[in-house]
Amino acid sequence: MSEQSSAVQAAPNSGKPQPASPAVAGADNFVQIVDVVKKFDETVAVKGVNLSVKKGELFALLGSSGCGKSTLLRMLAGLETVTSGHILIEGVDLAKMPPYSRPTNMMFQSYALFPHMSVESNVAFGLKQEGVKGAELKDRVHGALELVQMARFAKRKPHQLSGGQQQRVALARSLVKRPKLLLLDEPMSALDKQIRQRTQMELVNILDQVGVTCIMVTHDQEEAMTMADRLAVMSEGQIVQLGTPHEVYEYPNSRFSAEFIGSTNLFDGNVVEDEPDHVFVESSELPVRLYVNHGITGPLGMPVTISVRPERIALMRKPPEGAYNWGRGTVANIAYMGGYSLYHVKLDSGKIVVASVSSLALGEIDSPTWDDEVYVRWSASAGVVLTS
Ligand SMILES: Nc1ncnc2c1ncn2[C@@H]1O[C@H](COP(=O)(O)OP(=O)(O)O)[C@@H](O)[C@H]1O
Ligand SMILES: [Mg+2]
Repeated sequence: MSEQSSAVQAAPNSGKPQPASPAVAGADNFVQIVDVVKKFDETVAVKGVNLSVKKGELFALLGSSGCGKSTLLRMLAGLETVTSGHILIEGVDLAKMPPYSRPTNMMFQSYALFPHMSVESNVAFGLKQEGVKGAELKDRVHGALELVQMARFAKRKPHQLSGGQQQRVALARSLVKRPKLLLLDEPMSALDKQIRQRTQMELVNILDQVGVTCIMVTHDQEEAMTMADRLAVMSEGQIVQLGTPHEVYEYPNSRFSAEFIGSTNLFDGNVVEDEPDHVFVESSELPVRLYVNHGITGPLGMPVTISVRPERIALMRKPPEGAYNWGRGTVANIAYMGGYSLYHVKLDSGKIVVASVSSLALGEIDSPTWDDEVYVRWSASAGVVLTS
């Protein structure tokens, strides 16, 4: 994406899906969620969501606890009715499909394996209910277990498996039914942090092999970033931003998105010059103006926030030469992360700026330590202007 299409310039729809009526089904709108609302008595859990998911895509719904992710997923699975709006899969309204013919399958957060049944019986259960038997049953169960590399544990019971292995059985049990749409609710939440990362990669590879369209729910932004083709950031029952992980990280459309996805430095100020190709912002938090190399749409004096990611901030010993985008302060904290360090610099204004500095760059400035005087500086393309 070019600088020109950054968050603020893209403001007419700010990455939010617009209210839509059902379009003709195609590969780009394999799943269509149209004006969907869900109320539980007084609680409005989902407040008018519009979203299209592409065929074969791994899509993540990301948001903090209670924002309505599971409710939306449960409506997709047909486990909850919609209060108003429509959900279509390949152009067919879910409400018009009887539960047994819905082309979805949901893998629950808890996996919900039958404890008294072997791995293969767990995977076979749903197929048997559909009337699949004999050689076909055996082949499909074996195929699904091979896919998740659990064939050699076919005779074990769930309690004889690790958390990661149980998750793979649950996945096999979902995939064996060949759903058109696979729904995963917090698929990693029962796993320890260490195996979670490896499992994320494995899961992406398996879903890729099968080619199934998948919508997953997670509160973990790293998980959504590493796994998803596209993601929607949700807050209080609504989608606040939609895009690829790269788009949402580099061009957040609000303070909420900028802070939710990764960490960032936010400078509050007012627009003092606004041209098509640049904007100057004055902030009481910095000794010089902020300069961003794209324009915005709004009046002079408008309050804005500039987001600058820690990895875009350089640390220096000497005062920078430019007339903008820098601050002076002292090192307040250093977190050593291995290949890089996070420097917390307390500016003269009291503002704390976090800079992520590579070990290589630190060597070049003789690794500043606590209380040393330093300067932080960033380029005109590093900042994103946020108006909400
Ligand atoms: N069956 C239910 N009855 C009443 N309120 C519910 C029910 N399910 C969810 N909620 C409420 O809806 C909101 C969204 O819940 P949920 O979709 O589970 O959030 P998330 O999965 O994002 O953590 C919460 O306020 C929750 O308390
Ligand atoms: Mg949930």
